[in-house]
Amino acid sequence: MRSTVTVAASVLATHYVDLTSADAEARVAERLRDTGLTIFDGLAGRRSLLAFATRIMVMTSHRDSDGLTTIHDIPGTCGRAGHAGFGHEELLAHTEGSSLPDPPRLILLACQRPAAQGGECLLADGRAVRADLSTRWHEAAVMLSRPRTVFFGAGDGHCTQVFTVHPGGRVTLRLRQDELARWSPLAAPHLPTLREVITRHQFRLPLVPGQGYLLDNHRWLHARTQFTGDRSCLRALGEPRTSLAGGFAISSAAALVPVTSGAA
Ligand SMILES: [Fe+2]
Repeated sequence: MRSTVTVAASVLATHYVDLTSADAEARVAERLRDTGLTIFDGLAGRRSLLAFATRIMVMTSHRDSDGLTTIHDIPGTCGRAGHAGFGHEELLAHTEGSSLPDPPRLILLACQRPAAQGGECLLADGRAVRADLSTRWHEAAVMLSRPRTVFFGAGDGHCTQVFTVHPGGRVTLRLRQDELARWSPLAAPHLPTLREVITRHQFRLPLVPGQGYLLDNHRWLHARTQFTGDRSCLRALGEPRTSLAGGFAISSAAALVPVTSGAA
């Protein structure tokens, strides 16, 4: 195991996969099915990340020729709605592509150059968030699952809900918390509770070069602390090449919210 000493041992024990092992791809697929998250290291450099990405996902077409996006601080981005990822300020927990009808299922991100200060990734398992809400703040879970209680995006955005409960009981999650989220009076009062629960379940990934994560974007929320310096990460988005059931399973105790009868 390389360069992982700064990540909590408990997190690594649950999510780390050694990509040099012979069965790495099978283990990655297993982690995605079981926990929705894989943490790895050793992918410094565009070529190695691209090779891994193309093995595990059908990458979303992108204006960049190879499908990888460089996430770094672009001067002048500050204050532009929907472009905060290319700044250096804090990013609150969100779903990638929340304003799209179908957000990408997978996010692959690897650090290429860490920040001088800050810039840690914060990840929260939506399954744990949903379970916590359902058992302790049931009304919040209900209201945040009500159809069409938030609009994400600009004029061409998407009217949706935070938790979509599908027939059969599996759940998908989508969220953004910037100025491109417009909440209904039914959902808005529960945002402080949602934020508190997300914070409780977040853990930090202070990534070093080559270290990164692959996550189920319909289950996990990602965030970033503000930073200084020339932080740079490479990111790929796409759909899994292996079978991955839609959404995530919830416990019977957390399934007390009715099926969401609306668009995702
Ligand atoms: Fe993001």
